[in-house]
Amino acid sequence: MAAEEWIDVGAAEDFRRQPLREASLGERKVAVSFKDGKFGVISNVCNHVGGPLGKGRLDGEFVVCPWHQYKFHRCTGEGEPGYEADKVPGYGVKEENGRLLVTAKPVSKRGHLPHEAHPLERSLDRAPGGLRVGGISTTAMDPKNPRFSTSEHLLTVALDHAKAALGAETKLIRLNDLNFRHCEGYYSKAAKACTWPCSITSMDQTDQLDRVYDMAVFWADILIVSTPIRWGAASSLYYKMVERMNCIQNQITINDKVMIRNKVAAFIITGGQDGIQAVAGQMMGFFSEIGFLLPQFPFIAHSLGWEAEDMERNVDFVEASDHLRAGARELVGRAAETARCVLEQHMTTSRKIEPGGRKASADR
Ligand code: FES
Repeated sequence: MAAEEWIDVGAAEDFRRQPLREASLGERKVAVSFKDGKFGVISNVCNHVGGPLGKGRLDGEFVVCPWHQYKFHRCTGEGEPGYEADKVPGYGVKEENGRLLVTAKPVSKRGHLPHEAHPLERSLDRAPGGLRVGGISTTAMDPKNPRFSTSEHLLTVALDHAKAALGAETKLIRLNDLNFRHCEGYYSKAAKACTWPCSITSMDQTDQLDRVYDMAVFWADILIVSTPIRWGAASSLYYKMVERMNCIQNQITINDKVMIRNKVAAFIITGGQDGIQAVAGQMMGFFSEIGFLLPQFPFIAHSLGWEAEDMERNVDFVEASDHLRAGARELVGRAAETARCVLEQHMTTSRKIEPGGRKASADR
């Protein structure tokens, strides 16, 4: 049997100073740990989506991945109790003459436990059926004491019209009714740490933003998003939602995969003061950046303006406005016209869309 080949990865003393760190082993990287006088070496590549284990932390005898907190035994590479078979390769390690030596090849193999695909991992092909219009209201309110929302009111006018006059199927999501977590910045750790489905959605079954993903990515041909204006910006719930939608855009960046195709977005914006153009600009920018198309005149809006602000009359004004209701109906009509053109002309999923001015992170 050939003698084991060992590679010198550095001064043992340096590795003693840090409980966990990365080291180069030829072309590869390994995660070297030191605890209770004993070294451990495992692959640096996490089983999940490749997080750098040597940049994580130790939790007892386990290395915690810095991306999504999967754990692997620092010496054997095995997963946590109950998940031992989900393991990363382990390496032999010894100290000689003050140097740390690691086996050139792993002494144990990588293993994966069978993984059931998340429902959002399904094919992006459009399910058969007629035109589908989804509405998302981003208004925040006390659910036990609901109040009249002007933007949501106009959204329901648009959806009712889509159903009754345009023959579309409709659905409404009120973000206020959903229990969902803030984006926790996986993209800020590394582009590949921001996954599809969203890392939070994959790990937390109580998180309900999967309903928004399902509507935006799969179900809807037209998405109408309504928001109030809050200090010149869209609502806090709107931003909480769109931060979580980074995973949709990120698939273009890391996998060259456009998830939103042949879909149209339109917007309803209402406020007591002005700020409409800034809010509309952000919404149009975001939704076109993730792949939505915009109809001609993609938003309707209402505000009484800086000097005429009058919150005592604002709700009555909107409720009584035939003009705004007509605007909501016309908005969904324009969106439907655009969606039908797009669907009929078969801008098919096979058509390659270049990311335009943005290099995939894999190319760097
Ligand atoms: Fe390691 Fe996700 S937990 S990459």
